[in-house]
Order: sequence, then C-alpha cells, then structure tokens
Amino acid sequence: TLTPTRDDKFSFGLWTLGWNAQDQFGGPTRPHLDTVEAVEGLAERGVWGITFHDDDIFPFESTDAERQHEIDRLKKVTADTGIVVEMVTTNLFSHPVFKDGGFTSNDRAVRRFALRKVLRNIDLAAELGATTFVMWGGREGSEYDAAKDIRGALERYREAVNLLGDYVVEKGYGLKFAIEPKPNEPRGDILLPTVGHALAFIETLERPELVGLNPETGHEQMAGLNFTHGIAQALDAGKLFHIDLNGQRGVKFDQDLVFGHGDVQNAFSLVDLLENGGPGGTPAYDGPRHFDYKPSRTEDFTGVWESVSANMQMYLLLKERAAAFRADPEVQEALAASKVDEVNTPTLSAGEGYDALIADRSSYEDFDTAAYFGGKGFGFVRLQQLAMEHMLGAR
Ligand code: GCO
Ligand code: MN
Ligand code: MN
Ligand code: MN
Repeated sequence: TLTPTRDDKFSFGLWTLGWNAQDQFGGPTRPHLDTVEAVEGLAERGVWGITFHDDDIFPFESTDAERQHEIDRLKKVTADTGIVVEMVTTNLFSHPVFKDGGFTSNDRAVRRFALRKVLRNIDLAAELGATTFVMWGGREGSEYDAAKDIRGALERYREAVNLLGDYVVEKGYGLKFAIEPKPNEPRGDILLPTVGHALAFIETLERPELVGLNPETGHEQMAGLNFTHGIAQALDAGKLFHIDLNGQRGVKFDQDLVFGHGDVQNAFSLVDLLENGGPGGTPAYDGPRHFDYKPSRTEDFTGVWESVSANMQMYLLLKERAAAFRADPEVQEALAASKVDEVNTPTLSAGEGYDALIADRSSYEDFDTAAYFGGKGFGFVRLQQLAMEHMLGAR
C-alpha cells in the first residue's frame, strides 16, 4: 500500500515544510508556518516523527518565557497527535555571529557561546525524548586557505564533541550524536565534507561509540559521490545513526528536492539497500526515514503539502518497486549469473593463509585468465536493465 502509516517511521524536519523560500536572490514566497499547524498537518498525513532546530521553535532572541511558551505548545501538539520528537539539532548557522563557524570559529568567545547554545538544546532534546542529536556544521569551514588553520579547527571540533559526549553520559541522557557531512554551502569549503571524512574523524574522538552519521542524499551527490555507496559504508562501520533523504540533480548548489526527484535510480538502489539489505538479505536500517528537503520556491502552501506527501509517496513507490525487483525469478537468475552474492564468500578458505594460497596452483599458475572475457562477462548491463524495468513499472 502507498498510504503512509506510522509504521513506516517517516519523519520531517520542521524547517523543511516550514521554509519560507527566501534565497540569496529574492524574498520569501510564503509566510511563516506555525509549529502547531505543521505538526497537525504531518500527523494527518501518516507521519510518525518530527525533528527541529532550537531556532525553528523559538526565535534566536527569545526570552526564557517566550522560549518556554513555544516548548509548551510543541509538547501539547505532540501529545495530542502522538507524533514523536525523534531528533533535535542546534542552529549554529543563521545568526551572523556564526559566520566563521560555531565550534571552530577563529573567535574563542564565539566557540564558547556555541557550546552553551548546544548544551542548552541537549537538555531540551533529552526532555522531549529525542534519541539522536544531529550536528550539521554548515558554517564550520572557510573560503580562503590562509584564513583557517584546518588542523586547529579539527582540534576544536573534537574538543566540542568530546565535551558534549561527557555531558550526555554524565547527565544519563539516552542521546547519540550524528554528524551530517556537506562539502560546501554556505561555506566555500566545509569541514568533514563527506561521509568518509566524518567516519575518519569519529575514530579520533574520546567516545567514538556515541557518535555516528546523518548523511544527506544531496550532500554526497554535490561532491559527485554515490549516496548508496556512502550509506553502505556507514552501515559497514555501524555508523548509520540517522538519515536525511532528499533529491539532487548533479554537482551544483544544494537543491534539497523531494526524495526521488533527483537521481531516481540512486534513490531506488538506496531504498533497496535500506529495506532489503544485501542479496537475499533483510532490512539494513530500522531508524527513522527522515526527510530533509525544501518545498520549491515556486510553491504556495498547497504545493508545500503536496511536496510533503510526494516524499513519502516516492519512498513507498520505490520500496514497492524494490520488492518486485527482488521477487522476480528472472532477477534472481541474473543476480546469480552476475555472481552478486559471491562477494560475500571469503577469498581465502577457512584456516587458509598465504602459504596455502601460494601452494594452490589453480589460483595462479593454472588460472585461465584467457577465459576472461571470452565468454565470462559479468552480465551487469542485463541486471541493471531489469532493475530499471522494475523501477519504471514495466514489469
Ligand atoms: C542542508 C542541511 C541542513 C541540516 C539541518 C540540520 O540542507 O544544508 O541539510 O538542512 O540538515 O539544518 O542541522
Ligand atoms: Mn541539503
Ligand atoms: Mn540535512
Ligand atoms: Mn537540509
């Protein structure tokens, strides 16, 4: 069925449907969308969870009383609708004070302010029962190589994440952190630009087990990378703590399109991986299916709600198409012919080391390299065509 239900675990950032569509070249298309209206509309459409930045709920300059008033309204609407606050994140990018970064600003006072803003928001995340705390360092980076000591900045990033780790452990909060890579925008070059950079950084932390990733489809694709590969490597490392699903068409500015409205074949392989795992596998990810997109600048509120539904429809359509792909006997035969599952067989036999490998004449001296490709092609094109036919509903 293509009707979203809570069991699908779909969630949305409040800043996504709430975006007023202001950009560098023009003013807002839409007025502010109130939190209560947003959550009610999501709940009506079968959405399970929401996420937000502190500043999405209460403006940056709010007094304590104003802040509390907005938190109380959020608590009431989540209780009334049954929507879960599954992830919280901190806005360390909108206010001009963060133009050179939060955790890694050259200005130490800004770094201390950023840490305080995050600590306060971690308390709120724990209070609301969130399980993931995302860190997207959009302003951590530079435009000019002379302007930033990158090794020093990475030290400061590490210092910040280590402190936050101490905080959640000592407070007994059940929160884990998820770093969100992005190659550029708003900075010319952002620190931890890809899944791979962030994975390497996590291993340098004091509590690496507390920290994973929140990869975003479009961000890897902005770097010309294959998002499905990045997600697979994050899964391999046990670091897929959360995900930001959206659409992107090639190496250009961050489009934040509806999921599947960019590189649809990569979206298909991603859903197939998340839902079906490897060959003959089981679901590879059971976390929230979280959408971080922007309703296009051309849309009114009707279009905003159309885009909310479109994200979920695209996911469910691709899930249905991936299931049909897996269930097709011809596909199974083609997967076998392409030896797709054979990569899961260890290259050495049990107990075999290099001596036994060297002694095995069939592995080298008698191995018939001439047979490749005289009749031993892999058949990947046929397999991909079957995938495309299933994706397009032709099978
Ligand atoms: C982007 C980013 C941001 C972050 C979000 C969480 O599109 O550049 O995805 O939207 O995900 O702000 O902090
Ligand atoms: Mn984005
Ligand atoms: Mn994101
Ligand atoms: Mn985003």
